Amino acid sequence: MSIDRIDKLLSATGRWSRKEVKELVRQGRVQAGGRTVLRPEEKVDPAALPLTVDGAALDCAPFVYVMLHKPAGLLSATEDRNQPTVLDLLPPELKRRGLFPVGRLDKDTTGLLLLTDDGTLAHNLLSPKKHVDKLYRAQVEGRVDEADRAALAGGLALGDGTVCLPAGLEPVGDGSVCLVTLHEGKYHQVKRMLAARGKPVVSLHRLAMGPLTLDQGLEPGKWRFLTAQELEELCRLGAAT
Ligand code: URA
Repeated sequence: MSIDRIDKLLSATGRWSRKEVKELVRQGRVQAGGRTVLRPEEKVDPAALPLTVDGAALDCAPFVYVMLHKPAGLLSATEDRNQPTVLDLLPPELKRRGLFPVGRLDKDTTGLLLLTDDGTLAHNLLSPKKHVDKLYRAQVEGRVDEADRAALAGGLALGDGTVCLPAGLEPVGDGSVCLVTLHEGKYHQVKRMLAARGKPVVSLHRLAMGPLTLDQGLEPGKWRFLTAQELEELCRLGAAT
């Protein structure tokens, strides 16, 4: 990020609106290079200065990365004329940044969703060449068994001729719940695979995507920024060939 007005730099982090930033500055809570910034229009170079708010150093990274616990009933889209989307769960300043979901979960699927404005990382994570693992917990009608596990491990052919890459299937308890690991992301894939085995999905929840695991402390509908470590692991995966 280059030299810019302090209010623009801080609101670009997605943590505060421009109005809130102006207030922070006026209250003397923002420092650049150890000096309190008193005017919102003052220009600073975020690369050269430690920038702090209330004494905490700020990462003025150009992109924002958000972990969301998607609840059922919302579309994994940036906007829709008729239905609410996952973007409606974010504050206006983050919506304004143009965040988008990395991959889609069905409207009735819950769980881990990553949102970012980093198109390169998103592209890398979604690229079929990267085979980023996605881990789901599914509740099914009936019970999955060893034959289902072997069928998914062998690369299941769906009714329409689509052939899936080998996938993991692990029963939990009596088999009415199972863990499914995909290395690709075809449309409605988990539901179609389990339906093809005669075990239709009753509910579906994503637990993990690559190294990113849904924070158990995040209630459905809640979000938080990724930690530095989560981001580092994701970027390492996205960059690997
Ligand atoms: N597979 C599905 O069937 N639905 C999802 O939302 C994700 C994976």
